[in-house]
Formats: sequence, C-alpha cells, structure tokens
Amino acid sequence: PRRIIIDTDPGQDDAVAILLALASPELQVEAIMTVAGNVSLAQTTKNACALLELAGREDVPVFAGAARPLHKAPISAEYVHGETGMGGANLPTPRLREQPMDAATHLIDVLRKEPKGAITLVCLGPLTNLAHALTHAPDIAPKISRIVAMGGAQREGGNITPTAEFNFFVDPHAAKIVMGAGIPVTLLPLDVTHRAIATPARLAPIAALGTPVGDMVVRMLGAEDRFEKLKYGWEGGALHDPLTIGWLLRPDLFSGRECNVEIEIEAPLCLGQSVVDLWKVTDRLPNALWIDHIDSDAFYTLLTERLARLV
Ligand code: BDR
Ligand code: CA
Repeated sequence: PRRIIIDTDPGQDDAVAILLALASPELQVEAIMTVAGNVSLAQTTKNACALLELAGREDVPVFAGAARPLHKAPISAEYVHGETGMGGANLPTPRLREQPMDAATHLIDVLRKEPKGAITLVCLGPLTNLAHALTHAPDIAPKISRIVAMGGAQREGGNITPTAEFNFFVDPHAAKIVMGAGIPVTLLPLDVTHRAIATPARLAPIAALGTPVGDMVVRMLGAEDRFEKLKYGWEGGALHDPLTIGWLLRPDLFSGRECNVEIEIEAPLCLGQSVVDLWKVTDRLPNALWIDHIDSDAFYTLLTERLARLV
C-alpha cells in the first residue's frame, strides 16, 4: 500500500476523507496531523481522535499541530461545519488522545528516517504544519513523494473571499511555502470539488448501508440546514476533501493540467488567491497538477463501496 500521512482540520468533509482513506487497502494511513482551520486546534484534534475510534483504528497516532496560521490572524468556519466542526455527526467524546509531540516535529523526525519518496502527504486544511516543517527542515522535501492537497480556486471563484478558497486564504503564507518547495503537488481546487455535490441521489446508497458510518456521513452532508443548500441553493453539501483520497485511489476518474500555481500574499483583494497559469502565458515552470474535472457519479460509487467496509 501507498504510505500516507493526513494533515487535516476536521471538518465534515475532512471526516469523510479520513474514513475513505481508512477504508481503502491501497493506502496505509501512518499518522494524522491536525491543524486549526474549520474549528480550533483543540476541536480538530478531538474530532480526529473521535473518527479513529468510530472506525476502530485507534492504532493510528494523532499529532496536534499549529493552533494558528504563520502570520495572519486565525479564522474558522463554524458557520459551515457547526460548533464542533462535525455538525450532525454526534460522535461521543473520544478516549483516544493525541501524541505528546507536535505535528511538524513528528513529520520532520519521521521523514528524516525514511528513504526518498517514501511518504505521500494528504493535506485537507490550511498548510501551516507542512510550512513549519519545511521551513525548519528543508532537507525533508525529497522524502515526500507527492503532496495531494485540497486547495485553491480559479474558474470557480473563491468561497471565503471572491478570489480565494478557504484553506489557502486561512494561511496564504504557508500555501506559498508549500507550492514553492519543489515537491510534486496535486491540487483539488473548488473548480473540481464544486462538481461533486452530495445530492440526495448520491447520498441514498450511503444511507442504505445502514451502518453508523453511513448514517453519520448522511447526517453531515444531507442535513436540511446544510450551508450550501441555504446559501447557494444547491441540492447538498460540497464534498471537497475526499477528492484527494479519490484521486489517489482512482486517478482515472479525474483530469487536469500540469501548470504553474502561485499564491498571492500581498494584494488585499486577492489574499490567498491561487493564480493558475492554465495557458502557459508565463515562463514560470509547472509546480502542480491542477485537477479540474471529475467523473462525480463514479466517485460516489467508489465512496459508497468503501464506506460499506466500515461498520
Ligand atoms: C475547504 O475548506 C474547509 O472548510 C473544507 O474542509 C475544505 O478543506 C474547502 O474550501
Ligand atoms: Ca478541510
């Protein structure tokens, strides 16, 4: 199996991504690192522990990371994910606790012991932890075979400002460091995640599983007061983060372009914007695979089949 470390701010869609990864034998989840984003660090860490308990995977260690972005004041998204970050999930308070070491220190320690290209990083929140690690230990970069991150927006416009996507906007300086580190990156931006809406027709087979995991996913994504239903008039929630795992499992369901992606960190109206050179109008070298198409129905079939394996 491909060895992955998940860096995350659960978060309803983060939760689904984590469950999808845990249910997939092609992937070996070696650790979960948490970061402040959708909700506070204390809460994202607690949620990660609760999810591992739900999946019966207390063997996966959790490392808490950054409580705030590198330079910007923290912002969060309770208005989307609920006060706990896991609105609708109703998970019990976990017994599992995070490890004593912080996430960036753990990442540096682990990667230094590994050969080149040993680990894939799956990034589902603001990129603060990875930026800390790369800043303190640039020698770890070659150890990472690829970063698969949910972040950015171009054609679709932003979801937190008119120009920026949430993860990149929360910590634009971190996103800039990561995009400039010379590590292969696959980006799943809003341009593709907004094509994978959790419609009632796509949630029905998950509801029909009749399992605690299936019920939880449907309660989180299909709720009547779901943010995207009320604000955008959509049929259901957007399922951003699980597309990273979907791409690792079935890249044939996606398409995109190798191109240059830069992160704006100064212009006030465009802070955190991903500036994507889709048409190669600059001589800047490609630094990302920018995914912009998905076979959404096939992805939901895969998700349902995998969630069925978690009872
Ligand atoms: C991203 O922001 C968060 O709210 C989601 O979990 C996802 O990672 C989408 O912009
Ligand atoms: Ca997230």
